[in-house]
Amino acid sequence: MTETETVPADPGDRAGDAAIHVEGVSKRYGSRQALDGVSLHVARGEFFGLLGPNGAGKTTLVEIMEGLRRADAGTVGVLGASPWPRDAALLPRLGVQTQSSAFFVRLTAQEHLATVAALYGTGRAAVERTLRAVALTEQRDTRVEDLSGGQRQRLAIASALVHDPELIFLDEPTAALDPQARRDLWNVLRALKEAGRTIVYTTHHLDEAEALCDRVAILVDGRVAALDSPRGLVGAAGAATSVLLPPDRMTVAQAQEVEGVDRAVLSGGSLVLETRVSGKVMSALDALGGLDGVQTRTATLEDVYLKLTSPAADGTRHTPQTPQTPQTPQTPDREHQT
Ligand SMILES: Nc1ncnc2c1ncn2[C@@H]1O[C@H](COP(=O)(O)OP(=O)(O)OP(=O)(O)O)[C@@H](O)[C@H]1O
Ligand SMILES: [Mg+2]
Repeated sequence: MTETETVPADPGDRAGDAAIHVEGVSKRYGSRQALDGVSLHVARGEFFGLLGPNGAGKTTLVEIMEGLRRADAGTVGVLGASPWPRDAALLPRLGVQTQSSAFFVRLTAQEHLATVAALYGTGRAAVERTLRAVALTEQRDTRVEDLSGGQRQRLAIASALVHDPELIFLDEPTAALDPQARRDLWNVLRALKEAGRTIVYTTHHLDEAEALCDRVAILVDGRVAALDSPRGLVGAAGAATSVLLPPDRMTVAQAQEVEGVDRAVLSGGSLVLETRVSGKVMSALDALGGLDGVQTRTATLEDVYLKLTSPAADGTRHTPQTPQTPQTPQTPDREHQT
């Protein structure tokens, strides 16, 4: 195995222009191959999602990018520098919320954040602003050990953001958040993206990835199984659209005969027609008695994710050995232009 190489910051190089580039990175823990030749780039200003089942290697990959772990093999560049060995000039440019955050538990929330801020030479105004951003102002004088799980998680996020870093790593930041706190965090993150920050975001909430991320990589068993915009992944998967009818509109057998219907079933109180040509099915239904009470449900990132990650009957996964989609970084604004 080769050692992790130092990456030259070459502005003329495609990878050198990216916020992060990872080439052929592998990592083994004993007999467990946690990462197996992962390559990807994250563009500056991009909101990049890392998805995958428990144990897929997401945290390992993020920790290698953050300089908390050393890859066994491959190349890693972060903001034009190598994260390993740890680079004192790089660290203040990164914001890191790890999956298992450490706290000064005897301090109050405000004192904890002020201590973190002081490490970066950041002033009091930033502490107050960040407490407000994560809605912890009311808990500012509560000891960290007395905060609820979700409030601690918000403090961990605040600790990653207080010094206004260029590149932010969040590893399952919404895992313990209530629905309102989750939406509030989305707004904080959208504002950071608007301000040009780059965000690497690990989550199991696929609605969140779909709502926030410019592109996502789906990791399975330490490999990149797919990488594209959520929209691109859903489109490429060619997943079916469901057309939902009131159950008394027709029988399942009649629905099965409608032109363009792949499958018809009764489910959740509706007659569900699966199709890949929803326009044609809607026209046929319109001609058969109108579209009153007819609803459609298009495929989501969750459908694509489950298809890629669910074990097959023989215990293997339906995962392609090579990435399905291009891995070239794109300026997010240009992502959907042709
Ligand atoms: N420090 C470690 N020592 C030994 N094995 C480890 C260590 N850290 C992770 N692993 C193993 O490496 C694999 C990848 O773990 P990792 O934490 O990167 O997964 P993950 O995708 O972040 O999962 P999750 O969604 O549960 O957070 C797992 O099989 C895990 O058991
Ligand atoms: Mg993890």
